[in-house]
Amino acid sequence: MRSLVTGVAGFIGSNLAERLIGEGHEVIGVDCFTDYYARSVKEKNIKGLLKERKFTFFEADISCVNLGEFLTGVDYVFHQAAQAGVRSSWGAEFDVYTSNNVLATQRLLEACKGLEMKRFIYASSSSVYGDSKELPLREQSFLKPVSPYGVTKLAGEHLCYSYWKNFAVPVISLRYFTVYGPRQRPDMAFHKFINAVLNNENIEIYGDGEQSRDFTFISDAIEGNMLAMKSDAAGEVFNIGGGFRVSVNEVLENIQEISGKVAQIVYRDVQKGDVRHTLADTSKAKECLGYTPKIDLNTGLTEHWKCLKGS
Ligand code: UGA
Repeated sequence: MRSLVTGVAGFIGSNLAERLIGEGHEVIGVDCFTDYYARSVKEKNIKGLLKERKFTFFEADISCVNLGEFLTGVDYVFHQAAQAGVRSSWGAEFDVYTSNNVLATQRLLEACKGLEMKRFIYASSSSVYGDSKELPLREQSFLKPVSPYGVTKLAGEHLCYSYWKNFAVPVISLRYFTVYGPRQRPDMAFHKFINAVLNNENIEIYGDGEQSRDFTFISDAIEGNMLAMKSDAAGEVFNIGGGFRVSVNEVLENIQEISGKVAQIVYRDVQKGDVRHTLADTSKAKECLGYTPKIDLNTGLTEHWKCLKGS
């Protein structure tokens, strides 16, 4: 089996590529090392992969290179590359979001037209739902993103559907719900909170901390990809959630318990683009893919903590 993973040096891409290699796939990994966070962090993410005989890496921007050579003989495409981050997608930055999330996705889909691939998995996001009052969020819920980032991820989903409908590119979109665990992006909450506690620094909470998320441990998100890869649900969209919803304040209590340290918390303004609550209804993913999240918050956070602490 041969797989292409875009955004392979990122949090989810690198973990996914390792799992695929572990299952005997040959993996072509592509990443353009956007400057959203340090290149050194991404290089570290793929350090182990680069030693694998079955892994080939290309540094390239998929929005502007000829994609033919990456796609030759590929059975599965995992399109994880994106400009991430909900809160930083305003203003002039939007150019980068449209280029990396919309244009790059369209170019990749275009290059996949007519190829004999088995599955194309698109990394979507819970941010496509926006500030829905109705929880849990179902795939058929009303979609009204409240951040430019969410708008671009939804545009990507729509492009995927269009290429499936018109050209039979066998696309499945997975809406990830705030993924955490080893290698989480440095701008994300758990990474920042744990590091702040380890270094006795202030933790900035946006708003009152009562906003809540369905947090998904990385191994569950990866399992969602593996199940989608094997399924026959082309053209469909699935929520990939962690199976629980907790507030940011509860997360902090948990981190303090795990670390045995007292967090220094500073409350800041609510950030534009942040939704108040998310919770995934994963019944469709369960029924069609066999997906059931396995890692509870305490187990996942403990692992995340140990990883950042270096033990
Ligand atoms: C995350 C990812 O950053 C997106 O790329 C992804 O698409 C999205 O999840 C998703 O799965 O849909 P977010 O939910 O904002 O977005 O994740 P975090 O950055 O981990 O933030 C979680 C919560 O903590 C938010 O309510 C945020 O306001 C809060 N937070 C974050 C703080 O209070 N302080 C911080 O320093 C960081």
